[in-house]
Amino acid sequence: MPARVAATRDLTPTVREFLIRPESGAATPHEPGAHLQVQVLAGRMQTRSYSLVGEPDGIHWRIAVKRMDEGRGGSLAMWRLAAGDRMLVSEPQSHFSLDLGAPAYLVVAGGIGITPLVFMAQRLAALSARSGAGVRMLYGARNPEELAYLSELQGALGDRVAVHVGAAPIDFAAEIAQLPAGAQLYTCGPVPMLEAVKRAWSEAGRPLPDLRFETFGSSGRLPTQAFKLRVPRHEFEVEVPANSTLLEALEAAGVQTLWDCRRGECGLCAMNVLAVDGEIDHRDVFLSEHEKKSNSRICACVSRAVGTLTIDSAYRPD
Ligand code: FES
Repeated sequence: MPARVAATRDLTPTVREFLIRPESGAATPHEPGAHLQVQVLAGRMQTRSYSLVGEPDGIHWRIAVKRMDEGRGGSLAMWRLAAGDRMLVSEPQSHFSLDLGAPAYLVVAGGIGITPLVFMAQRLAALSARSGAGVRMLYGARNPEELAYLSELQGALGDRVAVHVGAAPIDFAAEIAQLPAGAQLYTCGPVPMLEAVKRAWSEAGRPLPDLRFETFGSSGRLPTQAFKLRVPRHEFEVEVPANSTLLEALEAAGVQTLWDCRRGECGLCAMNVLAVDGEIDHRDVFLSEHEKKSNSRICACVSRAVGTLTIDSAYRPD
């Protein structure tokens, strides 16, 4: 649907908030964890997904975009928008919902991963005031000026927000050990942080359904750059440009693909790797650490390579 940028605000040196107003005049309310799809002109029109931030006001949707100078161009295109500019957006959608039935919650945010968790923190603060449910939040960032929305979080949760600044790892095992049985953990952040949280959660013997997470794109180990793609089954070789995903390159070449989340979470787009001359940058949170090390599969929606990648698509003519 058509919408306009109502206002922008710089939250940190690299994070800009956008208030978006649909031209229909009413912004559909959303639940914590929902996101908005936005069409951006990054070389060509592309779709990006941004978490909705904070309690809805019925008029605007609020998103925040981290500027990724080494990314695929979507964030830079967003940063070029100013108040009054038109854009196309979806209705709010959610794959990361908050369950209010647990006795306690641990919320873990890393960097721009804070965006879906602001509304969760506000909703959990209200739940805690009503029912006494335990809530604690850990918020990590490389440096203090990158802690977007910290005052809103402290307004909701007070000293139950623990800030971690710098590169030292957070002791997730110790944090999880404090939680009562049945507690839930909600987290969003870069892939290495999510992997560490997942590992600590499963080593503590906690039920996996009680760990809910969401990742965000462009958080790979290697810079985003063009790479060569070979698909022998379809007898073609193409270059995957820096501003395109592997999945988009396959679609552009007319290869049938399977996908759902396009965020590296569901695994539906995983394809077999036949060879890699260079390095694979796994950016998903679906494959196990063992699968990533063995480079046997790749999640085409988010993961990339440097060099030449040869894969087999999931398509079978029969
Ligand atoms: S489509 Fe879900 S992991 Fe790629």
